[in-house]
Amino acid sequence: MKLVVAPDYETLTELAADFIAETVADKPDAVLALPTGSTPLGAYRRLILKARHGHLDLSRVTTFNLDEYVGVGLRDPLSYHAYMTEHLFSQVNVDPARIHLPDGLAPDPEAEGRRYEAEITRAGGIDLAVLGIGANGHIGFNEPGGPFESRTRPVRLSAETIVAMQAEAPSEGRLPVTALTLGIATIMEARQVLLLAAGPEKAEAVARALQGPVDVAVPASVLQRHPRATFLVDREAASRLK
Ligand code: GLP
Repeated sequence: MKLVVAPDYETLTELAADFIAETVADKPDAVLALPTGSTPLGAYRRLILKARHGHLDLSRVTTFNLDEYVGVGLRDPLSYHAYMTEHLFSQVNVDPARIHLPDGLAPDPEAEGRRYEAEITRAGGIDLAVLGIGANGHIGFNEPGGPFESRTRPVRLSAETIVAMQAEAPSEGRLPVTALTLGIATIMEARQVLLLAAGPEKAEAVARALQGPVDVAVPASVLQRHPRATFLVDREAASRLK
């Protein structure tokens, strides 16, 4: 696994946006898996600026988000649909027909997971999966203990994750306890992975993922087995590395 330590969050966002933009420059019809959360916000801001200045064309790109809350509709401000529309999609030229997120209101979430997997396969697989990491080492919403062979499916969120998400939620209401997430096997099949981590609260998870044993207790540790995975972290998130 490749490790890049950025001196600060701003540099991290710049490097992340460059990485994504280069992937698209090399392959204009690239298939991207995209994360939510606070970490990617700066990178999305920079991608928007690149697009505005004519340095990035997303018109042929296909996107699959990593996850979505179960029981939450597209227009609910809590939804990752709403997050992506606000922070990226409404401000760049991604073709709406090529944007994919799991449907949080699908009557059968298991079937929705299978449908999502089939869409990814139909698109030719993921060229670049951009990931965040939970303080407990989760990727997407694959919580500790989730099997490495998992596929897109509904999962129960850990108490720790719910508390972390609640702190960032755009509204007061209680968050769902279930989400649909890309599976770990699905993420591992991406041709390239870029994991972003910033801040001291991610330092332990980053150290365990990069330097600890590959173990389902730290889902991100599986990336040690990926042939083209890069961890792009700021200095604070790198502070527990040996
Ligand atoms: C959620 C998302 C993850 C994300 C994580 C970290 O759990 N489902 O995909 O990586 O939050 O979020 P943040 O970047 O806000 O710390």
